[in-house]
Amino acid sequence: MSRTPIIAGNWKMNNTIAQGKALVEALIPLVKDASGVDVVVCPTATALSAVSAVASGTNIHVGAQNVHWEKSGAFTGEISTDMLKEIGVEYVVLGHSERRDYFGETDEGVNKRAKAAYAAGITPIICCGESLDVRESGKYIDHVVNQVKLALDGFSADEVAKLVIAYEPIWAIGTGKTATFEQAEEVCKAIREAVAEKFNPAAADAVRIQYGGSVKPATIKDLMAQPNVDGALVGGAALKADDFAAIVKF
Ligand code: 13P
Repeated sequence: MSRTPIIAGNWKMNNTIAQGKALVEALIPLVKDASGVDVVVCPTATALSAVSAVASGTNIHVGAQNVHWEKSGAFTGEISTDMLKEIGVEYVVLGHSERRDYFGETDEGVNKRAKAAYAAGITPIICCGESLDVRESGKYIDHVVNQVKLALDGFSADEVAKLVIAYEPIWAIGTGKTATFEQAEEVCKAIREAVAEKFNPAAADAVRIQYGGSVKPATIKDLMAQPNVDGALVGGAALKADDFAAIVKF
């Protein structure tokens, strides 16, 4: 099975509408010839609509950074799948460690958001990853596999095949400390094996697994050479058109 690589830029809480539009305008010519790779940018909610309009008709796809599971109602501060669909959003980052650590996101919430997104035709990018404490305890594989299993609860094998999972060790996020290629591969492989066990080998073969955490142009090639790493979820380096384009064109 050959999986199409997917490089996604998570802008986090960066870029106004004007800055976001300028970034995508700069990116369009730089990545227009990138073939055989899915390119995604994930702006903040306020910039989604404008960025989506600029990216429309190009090979750049747009993702949100969260979505709620209910269709509408009294959920102050949340955004629904219909609202994202209306403006051309095709992906959504879910369960990022920053949402889990700072905003109380739970495995159950991630699962509900993922199911709602998938049902609406938006591809979830489900994040998982361990803290430094868990890494040093040696129990990081169990921790990450458990997060993934809970996030995927209630999905069918055919559905899981179409999802994206992002392994982002928290100790490597924004620290300049990329996991070694062996560390990234070890956990991405364990995630794939867990998908095979919970669902089936076909789903495991098809599901795309990204690595995230201080990915830079200098590190992407070796990461992508790992058999179980199918892409990257990029933070800081996604805020610079040149750097992100270099990562896309690994
Ligand atoms: P950095 O690339 O800035 O380490 O961020 C990674 C990340 O959290 C992407 O979601």
